[in-house]
Amino acid sequence: MAVEDERTFVMVKPDGVHRGLIGEIISRLESRGLKLVAAKFMQIDRELAEEHYSEHTDKPFFEELISFITAGPVLAMAWEGADATRQVRRMMGETDPAEAAPGTIRGDFGLDLGRNVIHGADHEDVGANERELSLFFEPADFVDYERNDETWLYE
Ligand code: CDP
Ligand code: MG
Repeated sequence: MAVEDERTFVMVKPDGVHRGLIGEIISRLESRGLKLVAAKFMQIDRELAEEHYSEHTDKPFFEELISFITAGPVLAMAWEGADATRQVRRMMGETDPAEAAPGTIRGDFGLDLGRNVIHGADHEDVGANERELSLFFEPADFVDYERNDETWLYE
């Protein structure tokens, strides 16, 4: 991994998959210059959902969140790039799509807090990427390569 590369966990949620937004979301991250290094199209079971969202166990929305995230397939991904975690969060927008700025993924494709299209690891939680990436991927799932345009992306 190059020095500027930070690896972050991103997921298209079941609403994003059903609404045909996988391509749009990948396209935005890809065009930004982020590099896709792992991807898994899968169904999350209850156990994985509870583990992934364990920080929210005691929240009133927990049960609905677990049903939502297990209600259909997701696309789990790992993306790399300079400041990747924070930049993906900025591209996602606020948690509530009603508050997310137009131009962000949630601000462009959602209206409801319980249907917010995309997950990205929290950049303010230092252990989040490692924890979430290891929940969804094996070490061998990550592909090490340089994007052909890297010299034109980074000074
Ligand atoms: O996803 P993000 O990190 O922006 O937000 P979070 O606070 O970590 O919450 C995780 C997920 O729980 C959100 O993305 C929503 O899908 C859901 N949620 C909800 O349904 N109702 C809330 N009041 C807060 C969060
Ligand atoms: Mg979060």
